[in-house]
Amino acid sequence: MIKTSESSAIVELCQAPVALIGAGNLAWSLVSGLLAAETIDPTLLRITNQSSDVRLDRFAGLGLFARRDLDAVLAGVRTVLLLVKPVDAAKALADAAPYLVPGSLLISAVAGLPLDYLSEVVPPGVHIVRAMPNTASAMRLATTAIAAGPATPQVFVDWATTLFAAVGSVHDVPEWCLDAVTAVSGSGPAYVYYFAEMLINAGAAAGLDRSLARVLALETLAGAVAMLGRPGADPVALRTAVSSPRGTTEAAIAVLQDRQISDAVLAAVQSAAQRSREISSVFLSHRPSRSVEVDAVDLDNDQSA
Ligand SMILES: NC(=O)c1ccc[n+]([C@@H]2O[C@H](COP(=O)([O-])OP(=O)(O)OC[C@H]3O[C@@H](n4cnc5c(N)ncnc54)[C@H](OP(=O)(O)O)[C@@H]3O)[C@@H](O)[C@H]2O)c1
Repeated sequence: MIKTSESSAIVELCQAPVALIGAGNLAWSLVSGLLAAETIDPTLLRITNQSSDVRLDRFAGLGLFARRDLDAVLAGVRTVLLLVKPVDAAKALADAAPYLVPGSLLISAVAGLPLDYLSEVVPPGVHIVRAMPNTASAMRLATTAIAAGPATPQVFVDWATTLFAAVGSVHDVPEWCLDAVTAVSGSGPAYVYYFAEMLINAGAAAGLDRSLARVLALETLAGAVAMLGRPGADPVALRTAVSSPRGTTEAAIAVLQDRQISDAVLAAVQSAAQRSREISSVFLSHRPSRSVEVDAVDLDNDQSA
């Protein structure tokens, strides 16, 4: 909740130009959400990317100032969003840093890019926030966790929250949580897609027409998620309620438990969190004071969260 005393500072921030570095999937989701929610006027949004004219033109079509000239994009901005892949982050940051002025805010959505690294790259007085949204930002149903640098004033955290609230819910967490957040909600949509894929395949294997299996599986997932979203809903209670003794659901759940699916999910989340920590370690071992360029080989398997 934004306090009244801070609201005028937020108004000031949202009336100043905001620059996005990176014009990919996340940038598109975020801009679409910000414009739909009327959080910011499109004429205040500026965007740049590496090389794709097609991607930049798409944003220009929404009324954004879309250029590859950093002088033009970053001059006078109060908020910069870093929306590039981990492998591209060091160069994008090094290019942008000279334009960042004290009192401005840098928000990084780059998976695994630590606040310690960011604080060494940006000039003194630039505030920093990390954000970890997920791909549901495209539907404005993202879950985003944000973690601010220790010296970042609350009003900048509130402003970052306002920006990501345009594409879903936002949770303020300490930075150490972000590896687990990445593993649960950053990578989480892919686990659900994988389960959907398996349920469709199993339905087809059980004799259903594949298109019918797909409709049944996806409608079932959507219905179950809606049930889970009701106030007070509890996954264990909901599962138990539909598992009659010696019934069909109980038979299925017994197989899942016997195959230790719970252990597999636990190990999957631990593995994703470990990979996030490894990416952070790569960044920290390539701090700009030692080398501006992060080795692409170390990070090129981490094209997203
Ligand atoms: N997509 C999501 O929902 C999501 C969720 C959680 C976290 N993230 C994080 O958000 C970041 C972006 O993800 P994405 O899915 O949007 O990636 P993406 O679609 O591949 O877009 C990356 C963008 O970065 C641009 N870029 C690369 N190097 C640059 C540089 N030096 N200067 C300026 N722009 C540069 C690319 O330019 P071109 O257009 O020329 O290729 C492209 O527009 C990643 O770090 C990812 O981990 C994304």
